[in-house]
Amino acid sequence: MSTIDYQEKIPNNVNLKEDRTLQRALERWQPSYLDWWQDMGPDGSTNFDVYLRTAVSVDPQGWAQFGHVKMPDYRWGIFLNPAEQDRKIHFGDHLGEAAWQDVPGEYRANLRRIIVTQGDTEPASVEQQRHLGLTAPSQYDLRNLFQVNVEEGRHLWAMVYLLHKYFGKDGREEGEALLERRSGQTDNPRILEAFNEETPDWLSFFMFTYFTDRDGKFQLCALAESSFDPLARTTKFMLTEEAHHMFVGESGISRVIQRTCQAMNELKTDDPAKLRAAGVIDLPTIQRYLNFHFSVTIDLFGADESSNAATFYTTGLKGRFEEGKRTDDHQLRNDSYRVLELRDGQLREKEVPMLNALNEVLRDDYITDSKSGVERWNKVIEKAGIPFRLNVPHKAFHRNIGALKGVKVNPQGQVISDNEWNARNHEWLPSESDRAFVASLMGRVVEPGKFANWIAPPVMGINRQPVNFEYVRFN
Ligand SMILES: [Fe+2]
Ligand SMILES: [Fe+2]
Repeated sequence: MSTIDYQEKIPNNVNLKEDRTLQRALERWQPSYLDWWQDMGPDGSTNFDVYLRTAVSVDPQGWAQFGHVKMPDYRWGIFLNPAEQDRKIHFGDHLGEAAWQDVPGEYRANLRRIIVTQGDTEPASVEQQRHLGLTAPSQYDLRNLFQVNVEEGRHLWAMVYLLHKYFGKDGREEGEALLERRSGQTDNPRILEAFNEETPDWLSFFMFTYFTDRDGKFQLCALAESSFDPLARTTKFMLTEEAHHMFVGESGISRVIQRTCQAMNELKTDDPAKLRAAGVIDLPTIQRYLNFHFSVTIDLFGADESSNAATFYTTGLKGRFEEGKRTDDHQLRNDSYRVLELRDGQLREKEVPMLNALNEVLRDDYITDSKSGVERWNKVIEKAGIPFRLNVPHKAFHRNIGALKGVKVNPQGQVISDNEWNARNHEWLPSESDRAFVASLMGRVVEPGKFANWIAPPVMGINRQPVNFEYVRFN
């Protein structure tokens, strides 16, 4: 079951050939997908041989195989984690009942919406990142970008499989629509706001893979708890791929910081102008990028109070992060949670029913997880002996959804006047000139083992290959 059949036109471990109708429907979608990839996938890279990993099995050990592949020939397919015998629903109103192998009629619309919303983010990020290959700081980084891109493509396959298999005609139409929306387009944009922002440079890319792919992790973790078993199994496998995306972000930022600290020590300065003149990214600029990506990403969890979130939980569609590890009653009818609101000009806590606050619960879990990597970045700065620390901003900072939408708050969480916001927001968020400076550093480095001046090499290569391995053959 867990071995993937690569003889088939669509590699899969779901016995696709037993279901001719589904197989035909997916084989009809496949050329549209490839057209989308040609149109919106990584710019100018069709002919490159890229050292990519491909899933050969969904077992935790040895699921990946590495080799040089042209990206349009990547074997995108459908991989589910093996079924858990007699899996039971473990939260919500159906607690204790058998997990669903099919979609219950009454939950069809909500499940479809959840799957479409998740599915939409996958091609969106490929579209956001499509020009980055032209300015990669090294072959190693270029290869990582492409790995992330092909796997986001595969995540789209994962969601489209569910839509085709379980949602009939509506599902097939949604599958087409997923290839028609475009990140940042005004008339047919991607569903969620953060996925319509540009990823214009590599500092943004690393922040995106650290922060926004981590949102992906938390959403997938919540869906991996779902009572709808096929959704749980497919998201569990997606999570193993997601881990690499976050690694790319965390190690990427860490290497940027390392290089900056090295220049600070060599030049004995913390003056951003001098550091910029030396071609590295000053730490305050890194902080502003962090503030931007963190705040835009935490909006993705939705409104702090949400009756939809309550419905998704009580009906068993979407659990909490690590639902299975929690020791409460998994129904939460008698529980409350604290959310923030603006009252009398101050941020104040208010107690609301936990079920309505589940977006906030997931956001808070996310924030805790995000902070740990930021602490690891701070260790790099500390080790260099530099008295500067990066911080995640207060969760009310620069928000655009829920009760905190538009509230003017500084990164420390103090409510400020519009005037102060207007006068100071360039200290907290990347300004046009910050972005222009970062853009000015972006030049393509193609020689194996060479790295752009603004980023340190990684400690290790991919799959135990040397750092100067030929990760991409340009042909
Ligand atoms: Fe993804
Ligand atoms: Fe991802």
